[in-house]
Amino acid sequence: MPAPLPRRAFLARTAALAGASLATTSRTRAAAASTATDDAVGRHKSELPTPALLVDLDTLDANIAKMAAHCRAAGCAHRPHAKTHKCPEIARRQIAAGASGVCCATVGEAEAMVAAGVRGVLLTSPIFDPRKFARMAALVGRAPDTLLSLGHALAAERLSAEAKRRGVTVDVLIDLDVGDHRTGITPGEPALALARAIARLPGLRLRGLQAYSGAASHTAGFEKRRAFSRAALAPAVETRALLRRAGFDAPLLSGGSTGTYNIDPGEGGLTELQVGSYVFMDVNYRVIGGQADALYADFAPSLSVLATVVNTSPAKPEQVVIDAGTKAFSSDSQDKPESKDGRALTYRRFGDEFGALTAAPGAALPKIGDRLEFLVPHCDPTVNLYDRLHAMRGDKVEAVWPIMARRG
Ligand SMILES: Cc1ncc(COP(=O)(O)O)c(C=O)c1O
Repeated sequence: MPAPLPRRAFLARTAALAGASLATTSRTRAAAASTATDDAVGRHKSELPTPALLVDLDTLDANIAKMAAHCRAAGCAHRPHAKTHKCPEIARRQIAAGASGVCCATVGEAEAMVAAGVRGVLLTSPIFDPRKFARMAALVGRAPDTLLSLGHALAAERLSAEAKRRGVTVDVLIDLDVGDHRTGITPGEPALALARAIARLPGLRLRGLQAYSGAASHTAGFEKRRAFSRAALAPAVETRALLRRAGFDAPLLSGGSTGTYNIDPGEGGLTELQVGSYVFMDVNYRVIGGQADALYADFAPSLSVLATVVNTSPAKPEQVVIDAGTKAFSSDSQDKPESKDGRALTYRRFGDEFGALTAAPGAALPKIGDRLEFLVPHCDPTVNLYDRLHAMRGDKVEAVWPIMARRG
């Protein structure tokens, strides 16, 4: 055992180590990430540490191609929402299939996408921190086709000031509150007043409107969903006409979701769809029902969490415990993870690190050490729990993609 250091020497060494560790933190992290990444590529999924986030590449690409073909046929553009995946590799695949860019929910996501070479970024969420306006104006300097949605005159003033300071012109959409009462301005005259305010402000150029109805997206039953979405979007369509009559050229009407992708284009009025979840799918969406089916199955689940049965107990023979709890699956809804291969297992949340599985009568309970894949309850917040996504070709890891900008 080495001799103990005198206290003064100990403190000096600790301070030096702390300094060194601060200086090397990012390098160390990058090295750790790349080692883990390199290690996983080429491996069979049975070798991956669990819980692990997987995407099936064939299913992902089929979902991307199907949405792109739908939009082409409907004469509607699509700018898929990258808040779902936070992954430039997936954004590139969407754009290669025909998307006009990607939507982002945070400034960090927008920066990560632009840094990775993705263009046509639309920030759909409101911001109000002056530093975030400065970051967005800087981003427009690097990628002039970046768009921001705005729902408040004071936000427009702040953005204009930053645009002026940087000498850039920022394209903006007016975000309309079409019933969620979460973001956006009231359609009609209030939106027209905001358009006039934007027109007076230097450094801003109005390109259109945003109208997203979160409530429509998950309305259960196709006919109900159609009626809900049509009613939600009607004031947006009227506002666009109002703006035109007032002399504004506002060509874009952006919004919609995976739940309403086959409702909103055309007569629905949207010129571009902000669809997000369709790339991965999740239980929240499957249960809303499709146009013809009880389950929404227009897009297939490509995302899963791989977990291991880590305990069984004679005190509770009807259940097994897996290593995937609330740190592995989103827990913002009643919906639970479902076995990907359709086994009749019921998942119960069992803490941060664990879930409990029970089997339906007649179905086999997994054994200790068994590995199972689960569809996730809600894809966006589940993805945000992981720092990497294993891109699977069959049972083998073809690539490991970082999940970017999990904060800010
Ligand atoms: C503004 C906005 N647009 C589009 C979407 C995409 O919706 P979905 O993932 O349901 O397709 C969302 C999702 O929350 C959103 O917040």
